[in-house]
Amino acid sequence: MPFDTALTRMLGIDIPVISAPMAGVAGGKLAAAVTGGGGLGLIGGGYPDPAVIEHEFGEAGNAVVGIGFITWALAKNPAALDVALAHSPKAVFLSFADIAPFVAQAQSFGATLIAQVQTVGQARAAADAGADMIVAQGTEAGGHGAARATLPLVPAVVDAVGSIPVLAGGGIADGRGLAAALALGAAGAVVGSAFVAAEESLASANGKR
Ligand SMILES: Cc1cc2nc3c(=O)[nH]c(=O)nc-3n(C[C@H](O)[C@H](O)[C@H](O)COP(=O)(O)O)c2cc1C
Repeated sequence: MPFDTALTRMLGIDIPVISAPMAGVAGGKLAAAVTGGGGLGLIGGGYPDPAVIEHEFGEAGNAVVGIGFITWALAKNPAALDVALAHSPKAVFLSFADIAPFVAQAQSFGATLIAQVQTVGQARAAADAGADMIVAQGTEAGGHGAARATLPLVPAVVDAVGSIPVLAGGGIADGRGLAAALALGAAGAVVGSAFVAAEESLASANGKR
């Protein structure tokens, strides 16, 4: 049976999975492969370097992909967002600081603005700032989450942000995890660690093993 969630509808994708914008790991090839598989692949813009952004969009070829940034690092180098938006990313994904300075610019280029948060308070702030979608990132998230695990955080964020679609991030690595995320009220999942091991990721061979 095909998936039909707010995520698949908003992004026009078949599978409600977004690959995480993992700095140094999620390059254009991985993003393109995830999109080719029916989800949406994101390039890890990380601590942004315009030359790397250009290169990785090139690696993605003609695939529709998005890009993610560590927001406080983007604030130090905001021109990197212009470089990314010139490639018409389907989504701009921001983590770890106030998204407000970047929302209008990203949306004006037609990108879906996805904010990754670690607490209910941050989710409310992201909603107020105009995020199109919110990722509730639990402590399982590759060591990146704050204080609350995915299982309790996701429904709390769903309840807090009204009609804004929520994605679950942290510890989701297969269909069972995705089903659990949907059961919690999420519209899909952000998957990182499982894609580190993908052939297309930029992780070292040892890391993949
Ligand atoms: C190796 C690695 C690097 C990551 N780098 C980033 C990053 O640069 N920016 C970001 O927003 N999130 C980053 N994350 C976190 C992801 O966005 C996401 O929340 C997480 O991978 C989801 O949990 P999972 O790894 O259990 O699937 C990273 C995760 C991993 C595993």
